[in-house]
Amino acid sequence: MSQVPIIAFGTTKGGSGKSTVCVLVAGEIADRGENVLILDTDPQQTTMKWFERCKAAGQPPERIEVVPCLGEKALGDQLKALPENGVVLIDTQGALTPALAIIATRADLIVVPSRATKTDVVEAAAFVKYTEHFRQDGVRLFLNSVDAIAMKTAVFNEAIAYIQEEQIPYFRTMLYQRPIYTDVNDDKGTLSTIKANPESVRKARANVALLLNEILEELSDAGTAAAEVHATEAA
Ligand SMILES: Nc1ncnc2c1ncn2[C@@H]1O[C@H](COP(=O)(O)OP(=O)(O)OP(=O)(O)O)[C@@H](O)[C@H]1O
Ligand SMILES: [Mg+2]
Repeated sequence: MSQVPIIAFGTTKGGSGKSTVCVLVAGEIADRGENVLILDTDPQQTTMKWFERCKAAGQPPERIEVVPCLGEKALGDQLKALPENGVVLIDTQGALTPALAIIATRADLIVVPSRATKTDVVEAAAFVKYTEHFRQDGVRLFLNSVDAIAMKTAVFNEAIAYIQEEQIPYFRTMLYQRPIYTDVNDDKGTLSTIKANPESVRKARANVALLLNEILEELSDAGTAAAEVHATEAA
């Protein structure tokens, strides 16, 4: 592992939650007292724009820094000048770019969000298999924006069955579809600064915390222990 852990969020499927989960995980890491550097490598600059909105509103997120990082040259330069401590997160473009090859080689973990339909999961699984050309492990799919009602449908079951049949490595934690996550990503702030119903915030944070716990277990090579972590909070 590099000196600071590098966690990338990637998949070719647009709108699956790369930027949202990047920002939510950054907020949770920062809440635990660690510095987070986000490299925004997507030309859409979604994460960068979120950071600019936070600053413009006079609420720069504590312990989080976002820098634009477009193209292989900028990425290479950033990776040569990593901070001495904290965690580096990389938000990626939804495409197989030259920069992605660098990220797939250098990241300690690649987190692949997918919506819970068979079509989405098939695309996410293809992305996982693509990254495996660059590395042997350290890639995990997880289901994002899951809605509690949809979980009872055949579409959801087919998605889960596909992941298992294809033996795609995945995190047990699913991130539920919550308006509060949309609010953070599409507006400003983090789950610890957002003005919302305290119970909704508590559940939203608990869900992200479970995901981060699995991410950290994977990074620390805790092996099968990660499989024991389950999302228990209903949406
Ligand atoms: N768990 C969730 N609950 C509610 N809304 C979500 C959730 N995850 C993502 N969204 C919303 O879905 C939309 C797409 O998410 P996001 O921009 O993070 O996807 P992306 O994979 O980064 O897309 P792109 O490929 O365009 O970069 C956003 O409006 C975001 O707020
Ligand atoms: Mg994005």
